[in-house]
Amino acid sequence: MKSSLSFLGMGAAVIVFFAGGLTTLAQEPLEPRIAAYDKGPATIDVAQYPADMQKRYKLFATRCSKCHTIARPINCDFVLEDEWERYVKRMMRKPGSGINQAAGKDIYEFLAYDSKTRKKAMYEKRTKEVK
Ligand code: HEC
Repeated sequence: MKSSLSFLGMGAAVIVFFAGGLTTLAQEPLEPRIAAYDKGPATIDVAQYPADMQKRYKLFATRCSKCHTIARPINCDFVLEDEWERYVKRMMRKPGSGINQAAGKDIYEFLAYDSKTRKKAMYEKRTKEVK
């Protein structure tokens, strides 16, 4: 009996700890670097992009603006394929992201194309640094 009571106590402690952690997460101020991305332009002019990329842009704009402004991924400094692969996967894994494998792949392809087009200079610079 004594042991099951202390087990209950431990459970409650875990719940309190977990809830406390969530509150801290929600209240944590944004890193200044990320806050600056959020203040940048919130659209990409895709008029010159191929039709399939324009379609993917729509998917990206809807799915990646659920938890933060779409300006965040538009203005961040990721350009390399590896960076986008890692980050799209990271965002897909966040609870409630609503982004499945197929959507993730399309969004990744859009971001890789966009980086080589709109962020061409940065893409070329970073590609040289990595080699
Ligand atoms: C379920 C919520 C959610 C969705 C959906 C989501 N994000 Fe995020 N995103 C976050 C959170 C929370 C952060 C800040 C913490 C972090 O980096 O994990 C973030 C941060 C970011 C950052 C800044 C990273 C940095 O450190 O520079 C980028 C870029 C980003 N997201 C891109 C995307 C893209 C692209 C998509 C769509 C594939 C997306 N997000 C969808 C929650 C989400």
